[in-house]
This record gives sequence, structure tokens and C-alpha cells, in this order.
Amino acid sequence: MTELIRLHDIGKQYQMGGEIIAALDGINLTIQRNEYMAFIGSSGSGKSTMMNILGCLDTPSRGSYSLNGRNVASMSQAELAQTRNREIGFIFQSFNLLPRATALQNVMQPLIYRGIRPAERERRARQVLARVGLENRVDHLPNQLSGGQRQRVAIARALCGEPSILLADEPTGNLDSTTAADIMSLFDTLHSEGQTIIVVTHEPDIANHCQRTVRLSDGRVLTDTNTASTTALSPTEEIVRG
Ligand SMILES: Nc1ncnc2c1ncn2[C@@H]1O[C@H](COP(=O)(O)OP(=O)(O)OP(=O)(O)O)[C@@H](O)[C@H]1O
Ligand SMILES: [Mg+2]
Repeated sequence: MTELIRLHDIGKQYQMGGEIIAALDGINLTIQRNEYMAFIGSSGSGKSTMMNILGCLDTPSRGSYSLNGRNVASMSQAELAQTRNREIGFIFQSFNLLPRATALQNVMQPLIYRGIRPAERERRARQVLARVGLENRVDHLPNQLSGGQRQRVAIARALCGEPSILLADEPTGNLDSTTAADIMSLFDTLHSEGQTIIVVTHEPDIANHCQRTVRLSDGRVLTDTNTASTTALSPTEEIVRG
């Protein structure tokens, strides 16, 4: 396995009036290519802050973040935008689709910024929509799709640019349990095909799909558990890493 992400002493502080909130406080993590990992932890523990930093949507207050061997802190705004577009596929709880654009147009959108010609954009988008099982829904608008189908469109959009990492913040939070299970089996397939996937979840059932679970508490790593070879977690299998 090769290293994809290295976080060293990452901290993120927010100033709210007179109060300083440490959303992240000294995170050290290494993530390999093709890992399938979950961040869990109570509300406010720093999960979304972590994902925003990993996705280059936000910058840390301290520490260093290396992605694919490149130091993110030293990137210009243009390089950051390009990194987001090429390396990161983001999936959100609320899907974040363009409401007036069809499934096909939503999926093609990230490719516009890459200077790929329209015919090629469409070919790739149709291919990836077929991969998520939506080949017969390409011309539907988001409000003509079910929640699970909307999330599949969002996954297709995230995948269309062949990102190094898929980052999903509570991807099944708005879905019923059956649809959530379908989305997670799609992630399982993508992982088996080589995709690196990082998921934030509140639900143990969702985290159980992943091979590694990192629990955050007050912006710190509380436990880092390898579940690759087991289905059930027992406390003795928990490896607490530094
Ligand atoms: N933009 C912001 N300004 C000020 N404080 C913030 C900001 N974003 C997050 N925080 C604070 O940082 C802490 C971590 O927030 P974060 O959103 O990462 O938590 P979370 O683990 O994703 O929670 P949840 O499970 O509820 O989504 C919280 O205390 C939150 O109030
Ligand atoms: Mg959150």
C-alpha cells in the first residue's frame, strides 16, 4: 500500500466572540491508498472539520497536511482549486445537486473546469451514471428522483473525475435504512475496485462496512481501530495509536 494522506499535529481553532474553540487539536494520521475508513464521534467532536480539511475546503490553523506527497499548505488558491477538482470527490448528507440541472448535467459539471470537450464529458458522465445504476434516469431533475437516486447522482458526480479520495460526510443521514444499505454496498464495490473512501457517520452499521474506524473526541483521536479482518468489534481488538 502507498501513503496517500499524512496529517501531522493538525489543529483547527475557531474564534467566536471572546471564546476560542479547538475543533481539532493535534491530529496525527496516515491514510493509505485504497483504505476504507470511517470517522465516528459525538456531535461537535470535529468530524466535519476534519473532512473539510482533508477535502481542501478549509485550511488548518496549525500542523501539516500532505496529500499525494504534496504539502497542501504551500499550494496557491489556484492549485488548491485544482486539487479539489482532481483529487477529491465530495459527497454530502444533503446531496448538494444543482436543482435545475439534470442528473447528466450535474455529473458532467466538475469536468467543465478541466477543459474536457462536451462530447467526452457526456460520454464519461453516462458511463459513471450507469456504474451507479442510473442509466435510465439521466434526464431527470433532482426533484424527480428518490433520495437514494439523488445520492447516487452525487456519487456519480464525485466519481466522474476519477478522484484519489472519496470523502462522504454522513452520506446516508437523509436515507431510510434499506436505501442506506444500498449506498453502502455501492461504496463496498467502489472500494473493492481500488477507490480510497473516507466516511463520516453516526451509525455503527455504516462504520461496520469500513476497515478502519477512527473515533474523534473533542478534536482528538480517541481510538483508531483496524477492522479489516473482522466483522464484529471487540474491545481487545482496538488499537489505540499515538
Ligand atoms: N465555522 C465555525 N465557526 C465556529 N465554530 C465552528 C465552526 N465550525 C465548527 N465549529 C465548532 O467546531 C466544533 C467541531 O464541529 P464539527 O462540525 O467538526 O463537528 P461534527 O463532529 O461534524 O459534529 P456533527 O456530528 O454534529 O456534524 C464544534 O464545537 C463546532 O461548534
Ligand atoms: Mg458534522
